[in-house]
Amino acid sequence: MTGPDPSPSPPGQDLLAQSPFLKACRGQKVPFTPVWLMRQAGRYQEWYRGLRARHYFLDLCKNPQLAAEVTVRAVQDIRPDAAILFSDILLIVEALGLRLTFNQGEGPAISGPVRDALGLCALREVDPDELGFVYEAIRLARRELPADIPLIGFAGAPFTVASYLIEGGTSRNFERTKAFMFRHPQAWHELMGRIARGTAGYLRGQVQAGVQAVQLFDSWAGALGLEDYREFVLPHSQRVLQAIPEVPRIHFGRGTCGLLEAFDEAGADVVGVDFLTSLAEARQRLGSRPVQGNLDPSVLMADRDYIRQRVGRVLDANAGRPGHIFNLGHGVLPGTPVENVRFLIETVHEMTAG
Ligand code: CP3
Repeated sequence: MTGPDPSPSPPGQDLLAQSPFLKACRGQKVPFTPVWLMRQAGRYQEWYRGLRARHYFLDLCKNPQLAAEVTVRAVQDIRPDAAILFSDILLIVEALGLRLTFNQGEGPAISGPVRDALGLCALREVDPDELGFVYEAIRLARRELPADIPLIGFAGAPFTVASYLIEGGTSRNFERTKAFMFRHPQAWHELMGRIARGTAGYLRGQVQAGVQAVQLFDSWAGALGLEDYREFVLPHSQRVLQAIPEVPRIHFGRGTCGLLEAFDEAGADVVGVDFLTSLAEARQRLGSRPVQGNLDPSVLMADRDYIRQRVGRVLDANAGRPGHIFNLGHGVLPGTPVENVRFLIETVHEMTAG
């Protein structure tokens, strides 16, 4: 018989929709607990260090072929249940009009950081098309990935991006960021609004290019007390997450134990739990909200018996509830033995299957 295929979506789309990762994002039952790792591509892998010896980090991010290759290679190497695009949350800094560099061993540096209302005037409104190389990397990676492995896109949340714009790099106490917030609240909200609009457009571009889920990284949200988070940050993160209702949204922050309910109110489908928060407590406080996490990344430095024990502890804390995506409570550390990462993923599958 000829004629149109009666199924509502192409078979590839269905394989993705039925993947354990996307089912867990929706709080549905899964055949085993899906697992992926933040920073699953990185310096702990020898092949990545080899690539980095030949290419500057930002050149890797901006070259769609190379970024797609790193994304896919990490999946082939450690066999997680989802891929995350190889990129960085700070690429948007350049679309905002500031210069970004990554110096060997020093992390990111932003020249001409925003210190006052004048600095704010110098920032551009983000044109999401300027990040076209990211969308191209997504299209290429999607084509090369196994048909049942979802691809996660991501961006930095407005507060974390603002902290880099203001501090000019990574910070310990965020004193300049907080001084800006407390002394110039109106300019602060304008800055956050500008980042939020740009980030919403950027994530929409990623969804159109073909990601199956997105993660919003508010890595430094834990630097704020609950009341400040609600007043200065939450409405802006809400606006970003509201802009992409088409795919599951994961919202991750570090040190969010004191903020967890407010963090959840930002409106994501899944809350990422860091390793300082007990997963059992997060479950209790968040009700039926799907969660992702939260093994301490340093556990991967230990031996297999201990890793297995600690995986067991995370799974026990979840107590068999649906809507759990296994992950670390922050990114893979550069000195992690790659065989321990593979062992972790196999162990999560083995301990939760059937
Ligand atoms: O998770 C993944 O595998 C996807 C790729 C990814 C990277 N950065 C690649 C990267 C993701 C999701 C990020 C997010 C990111 N970037 C965050 C939020 C998550 C977190 O870690 O809290 C932040 C704060 C950044 C900013 C950033 N990028 C810093 C502070 C640094 C330097 C410190 C470090 O870990 O090296 C980076 C560099 C970076 N981003 C690397 C990678 C693989 C290492 C670069 C190198 O090869 O030297």
